[in-house]
Amino acid sequence: MKLKALIASGGRGTRLRPITHTQNKHLIPIANKPILHYAIEAAAMAGITEIAIVTNADSDEVPRAIGDGSKWGVKITYIPQNAPLGLAHVVRIAEPFIAKDNFIFYLGDNMVVGGVKRYVDAFTSSGANCYLTLAKVKDPERFGVPEIKNGAIVKVEEKPKNPKSNYAVAGIYIYDKNIFEAVNNIEPSARGELEISDAHQYLIDHGYKIGFAEITGWWKDTGKPTDLLEANRLILENTEALVEPGVDVDSRSDVAGRVVLQKGCKIINSKVRGPAIIGEGAVIENSYVGPFTSIGSNTHMTNSEVEYSIILKGCKILDAGMRIEGSLLGNDVEIVRTDGKPRVQRFMIGDQSRVEVA
Ligand code: DAU
Repeated sequence: MKLKALIASGGRGTRLRPITHTQNKHLIPIANKPILHYAIEAAAMAGITEIAIVTNADSDEVPRAIGDGSKWGVKITYIPQNAPLGLAHVVRIAEPFIAKDNFIFYLGDNMVVGGVKRYVDAFTSSGANCYLTLAKVKDPERFGVPEIKNGAIVKVEEKPKNPKSNYAVAGIYIYDKNIFEAVNNIEPSARGELEISDAHQYLIDHGYKIGFAEITGWWKDTGKPTDLLEANRLILENTEALVEPGVDVDSRSDVAGRVVLQKGCKIINSKVRGPAIIGEGAVIENSYVGPFTSIGSNTHMTNSEVEYSIILKGCKILDAGMRIEGSLLGNDVEIVRTDGKPRVQRFMIGDQSRVEVA
């Protein structure tokens, strides 16, 4: 039977403000590549050619950025969602696209190493109606949580106060057509959403077969800013060194470890310690870029230090005078030194930004 993919890219991304004031959360780059690309690549690598992406109906940002899928050899259909009414609602509105086929439902803000083919194969050979992936977490109360008895999932609860296990149900699910019976028969939760966990509970209660596997590599839900930094670290950790055309590293610079230097970037009298990625046309001068850092395209750094951070495109970090660490800078952000007395910090910062000073 054919397998399709459904990817969720709607929602408001409120926990990632202010970045998401101007950019859809799924287009924020991790290791200089939009988060959503990772989901599309995973589906394509599992041999899937028909993908639907659910998007916020009031914005064409995702379709404009992602296109028709030809870049990945897949066909992408966009399904607008009028409001973020829940993940089971995302599945509901995708029924005409999925028809009677099996499908993988991939939350566009989830990232998993090693792709999804192994779970697709396990789903097929298990004969399950629904296949869940589980990941051990420290904070299960943030997620859908399974209760497991005698090797079977007997219950799934959404964000429970008293989690019955230390597993999260990860945002990579595989279903046959019976999921539509579930999503069409559940009611909104107390927070007003049609919960995917309630759909899973419906399947359990109605005798459908639930298979599951533990994700053994790593998995990340990129809901909070610290999750983005951690996902960036994990992706860079798995990246090989690469020097693209037109890169210029002068003889006074020292580039060590797994560093990706993208097209036309310039490293002048600077130290870059991998794993790190320096974006297209970026200029790093008299500076230090430490491990687990992504520098976006056309960002300029002079006399500054940055480590374990994501700096998006077009930023200017000039004579910053302190080490920037564990930070996330949006597009076109400037951190510059001013002359003159008294020595003060001056901020021009948008809504819901956060600055930590020491
Ligand atoms: O990441 C795994 C968790 O994802 C699961 O453990 C939970 O059971 C599941 O409910 C979900 O929880 P979150 O609170 O993280 O879901 P969130 O609202 O962040 O939405 C997940 C993705 O789906 C995100 O990429 C936004 C998108 N989305 C969300 C909703 C509610 C939509 O496209 N439409 C929606 O209506």
